[in-house]
Amino acid sequence: MSESTIDNRLHEERRFEPPTEFVAQRIAGPELYEAAKDNGPEFWADQSRELLHWHKPFTEVLDWSNPPFAKWFADGHINVAYNCLDRHVEAGHGERIALHFEGEPGDQRDISYAELTAEVRRAANLLLSLGVSQGDRVVIYMPLIPEAVIAMLAVARIGAIHSVVFGGFSAESLRARIDDAEAKLVITADGGYRKGSVFALKPAVDDALEMIASPVDNVLVVKRGGNEVAMVDGRDLWWHEEIAPMSDQHHAEGFEAENPLFILYTSGTTGKPKGILHTSGGYLTQAAFTHKNVFDLHPETDVYWCTADIGWITGHSYVVYGPLANGATQVIYEGTPDSPAPGRWWDIVEKYKVSIFYTAPTAIRAFMKAGRQIPGARDLSSLRLLGSVGEPINPEAWMWYREVIGGGVAPIVDTWWQTETGAIMISALPGVTSTKPGAAQVPLPGISIDVLSEEGTHVGPEAGGLLVVTQPWPSMLRGIWGDPDRYVDTYWSRFGDKYFAGDGAHLDADHDIWLLGRVDDVMNVSGHRLSTMEIESAIVAHEMTAEAAVVGAQDDTTGQAVVAFVILKSRFVDQKPADELVAELRNWVGQQIGAIAKPREIHLVDELPKTRSGKIMRRLLQDIAEGREIGDTTTLTDTSVIRTITTSLDDE
Ligand code: PRX
Repeated sequence: MSESTIDNRLHEERRFEPPTEFVAQRIAGPELYEAAKDNGPEFWADQSRELLHWHKPFTEVLDWSNPPFAKWFADGHINVAYNCLDRHVEAGHGERIALHFEGEPGDQRDISYAELTAEVRRAANLLLSLGVSQGDRVVIYMPLIPEAVIAMLAVARIGAIHSVVFGGFSAESLRARIDDAEAKLVITADGGYRKGSVFALKPAVDDALEMIASPVDNVLVVKRGGNEVAMVDGRDLWWHEEIAPMSDQHHAEGFEAENPLFILYTSGTTGKPKGILHTSGGYLTQAAFTHKNVFDLHPETDVYWCTADIGWITGHSYVVYGPLANGATQVIYEGTPDSPAPGRWWDIVEKYKVSIFYTAPTAIRAFMKAGRQIPGARDLSSLRLLGSVGEPINPEAWMWYREVIGGGVAPIVDTWWQTETGAIMISALPGVTSTKPGAAQVPLPGISIDVLSEEGTHVGPEAGGLLVVTQPWPSMLRGIWGDPDRYVDTYWSRFGDKYFAGDGAHLDADHDIWLLGRVDDVMNVSGHRLSTMEIESAIVAHEMTAEAAVVGAQDDTTGQAVVAFVILKSRFVDQKPADELVAELRNWVGQQIGAIAKPREIHLVDELPKTRSGKIMRRLLQDIAEGREIGDTTTLTDTSVIRTITTSLDDE
């Protein structure tokens, strides 16, 4: 982001007070800040007791005796799935719809809390019958269908650990995740619907298992796409056949609060994704608390829709655990926003009378481009609160979201958080805060945030720096799966006792926080985190490649886009036309990581600009990718240009 863009944002004068009717009905008022102030971890203990059912109440709140390894509510026992299911049925809400499922082809299933509870119990019994037990890892590689949610909750119910792998990841990415977690079981589907056709998932599982170092016992396959799949005898089982004879009775046992709940892999600054580990009691406390208070949830009347896939943290915390712990009614949708036509999302809002809507800025910008007449042709008057997540939202997109989607009245909450934080950390409270287009604004009650200079001193107001969390929080990651040293190095080595998030931030004169993007080699493409190193390693692993550099270039729709600069080994240079070589490399990245990581552009170059010590000058490449410095990027193939730039710049 350029300095002038930041400056423009910070001179934002617009403020929007919450509507009077909203305030009159609000779930969270200013008293929450009061309750949290000076109360430390006890605030969270109170929230946890109020929001959740503990099989055995905790007496210990926070154990921070061995930082940065936190324990929350450690002597309490809890069952995450029971909190999301059975207790709502026992409280008389069994008939309430938990999931309005909308398939991309237009099929629909409404699933009540009673039905979802019964299904999860059956699935839990099935997992037990397959020999899965507490602590075992189960990989879930599925489209966004009810069985994906059922599978996650069934794993949680028996105290096992799920690792959901986004369905867009390749067989190789899947293999790496199965191996790293030494999973015992994979749950997948034959395929799912996307952009009007079936995309196969099971073949990727087969390919992954061919390459695997640690064999899995079974693969459970949900029939969804109807595409032909190979079933390996003795290993592969159809979900519907196996689950049919299972009992819908299952006792949910309480597990220790720190029992691991899930691993979710996310990109870091090295070539190897990190398995972020979350545990049960603290995670569920903050997921439920934030879902209720940030989204102003009235579970009896609201219809909530978060558009994230369960393959990302947003899908874990705000499709599965937060909403279900709070007994919400929600929509889940399998497909893409524009299938079969550009207005599909707004059709869904109209059809189910969605009142709370949570999505990413990249989607909003794509809709802005397509034009306001598309949402304008639908009745969106049910919407009363809008949320944004995943990347900074530019004020233009924020205003469009408010005017066109929110009818000029719905408050917008811009929520900052990460896979590692587990739940929302910075956001307006919609019935309290006067909102400001483009700023995430204020830490939530119970959360301590600061912006520090490189030297670790507090900055501002009206200054920029590095975002840190200064006190442990209940849903914080408990580590990186199998690599405690990397956990300490990545997040805690920079400022010692403070969690370093990897984001730049600015405090304005009102002490509101503006997020400025990553300060490390991590890109944010359509709200998804991608590592420059990971993509570089993938490109270099291709036999044609001698060297590669990847940068994130600003993109009007996706926020950032992947741009690669590649030096080919000389024997490949004239082997094929350049566009074929580029296409081959793009597809290769798709196979190695997944389609989301495919570079928008690949420039074949003869040299890469380097400092005298041999470091690739990424900032210069970024300038080039964004059209600055040397204008037309095609001139990069002219080595003299690179040489000129290289020699005119000293080491960074
Ligand atoms: O750079 C921040 C950006 O997304 C990163 C976290 O990515 P991930 O773990 O994939 O989780 C995304 C969904 C929570 C952060 O380090 N980010 C997330 N939310 C915002 C944001 N940047 C600015 N504003 C936000 N609201």
